[in-house]
Formats: sequence, C-alpha cells, structure tokens
Amino acid sequence: MKRYHPALVALHWITMLLLFAALLGGSLNMAPMANSDPEKLEILRLHMIIGNVILALMVLRLGIRLRSQHPPSVNTGNLLQDKAAGLAHIGLYLLVFVMIASGWATALAADLPAILFGGSGAALPEDFYEFAPRLVHRIGFILLSLLIGLHIVAALYHQFVQKDHLLARMWFGKRKG
Ligand code: HEM
Ligand code: HEM
Repeated sequence: MKRYHPALVALHWITMLLLFAALLGGSLNMAPMANSDPEKLEILRLHMIIGNVILALMVLRLGIRLRSQHPPSVNTGNLLQDKAAGLAHIGLYLLVFVMIASGWATALAADLPAILFGGSGAALPEDFYEFAPRLVHRIGFILLSLLIGLHIVAALYHQFVQKDHLLARMWFGKRKG
C-alpha cells in the first residue's frame, strides 16, 4: 500500500483548513475581542460551528483510519525519528479532541448553546477564564500549534531533504504496486 485511503487524504486536507480557521480565527480575532462587543456573538457562533464540523470529520477520519489499509510506517533508518512520527500523529488526533472537549466544556459552563443558538437573550460572562476548561483550551491551543508546526517541518524535511516522496502518501493516486 503506497498511499492512505483517498477519503482519509481528502479528510486530512479539509480538516487542516478548518483547523487553521479555528486556530487563527480563535486566537487572533475571537479571544482578544471583549465579551461586551456585539460582534462577539457572531464570531463565537461561527467558532462553535467550525469546531463541531471538525468533530464530525475527525470521528469519520478516525473510523476510516482504523478500518482502511495504510502505508507501512516510514523507515528512515533512525528509530527515534520513526517512533516520534507515530507518537506525533497520535498526539495530533488527541489534541484536536482535547480542543473540542475543552471548548464544549467552556461553552456549557457559560450556557453558550442557549445564548448563541437558543435566543435566551442572556449576556455573555465577562471573561471565559472564569471557567477552568477555558485554560485547558488555551494550553491545548499552544500545544496543538507547536505540534502542527513540528509536523509541517517534518513533512517538508522528508520531502526536500530526505527526498523520500512522503507527501505522495497523503495525496491521491494509485495505491497498490
Ligand atoms: C492542521 C494541520 C494538520 C494536522 C492536524 C495533520 C494531521 C496529520 C495526521 C494525524 C496524520 C497521520 C495520518 C493518519 O494516521 O491518519 C498526518 C499525516 C501526514 N501529514 Fe498531516 N496534518 C496537518 C497538516 C499537514 C501539512 C501542512 C502537511 C504538509 C506540509 C502535512 C503532511 C502530512 C503527510 C505527508 C502525512 C503522511 C505521513 C506518513 O505517511 O507517515 N500535514 N497528518
Ligand atoms: C478543534 C477545534 C477547536 C479549535 C482548534 C479551537 C481553537 C480556539 C482558539 C485558538 C481559541 C483562542 C485561544 C486563546 O487565544 O487562548 C479558542 C477560544 C474559544 N473556543 Fe475554541 N477551538 C475549537 C473548538 C471549540 C468548540 C467545539 C467550542 C465550543 C463548543 C469552542 C469554544 C471556544 C470558546 C468559548 C473560546 C473562548 C473565547 C474567548 O476567550 O473569548 N472551541 N478556541
């Protein structure tokens, strides 16, 4: 097997775009905005919708990942590098789920479903850091960003320094032979 399942390939790149939107939009636009700003409701609504689409795609992705055939682990000859790759991939999956769970825990503690989607008319809390899961969301954000950075550097290192055509494994094409 030379490549990942095409559905997994598509999901890898679609979730990447949505994660970038949630990470960049969340940290650069949403978090610095005061909760009293009327625009905050709109941006929080969008953030929660994106977060839930990511959840659905990640569950689908994990299901396909566990059931489909995939290429053998990369063998670079460096045991540490090969082990790190496997651990990093598990870490990426886990941290995305940490973000979703802590996001939801913050939202439930602040009664966001009723405020944003139920028209309860209640005001947002002054600061989401009143709720402990908000800090988990922040720490998860930092760790996930670092791990994604490492993952991208590693993929480019494989492709352009080790020249082992790793990117092709995460792209469409003939899988057998
Ligand atoms: C939000 C950003 C990203 C996340 C969360 C992510 C996550 C993952 C995960 C979990 C895997 C393991 C595949 C699996 O077991 O399902 C993977 C594989 C891969 N990713 Fe990403 N990825 C991201 C961005 C990127 C980018 C920007 C590149 C290219 C520069 C890239 C290149 C690859 C490659 C080449 C593989 C296959 C590695 C192999 O064959 O062992 N990824 N990615
Ligand atoms: C993988 C999915 C998600 C990612 C990558 C993500 C990312 C982020 C980021 C980067 C921030 C700003 C962090 C900071 O600067 O400290 C943030 C804040 C927040 N997120 Fe998420 N998030 C995700 C899912 C969710 C979900 C599913 C919910 C709710 C159901 C949610 C609710 C929130 C809330 C309430 C805030 C606080 C905004 C504020 O402090 O003003 N997030 N998120």
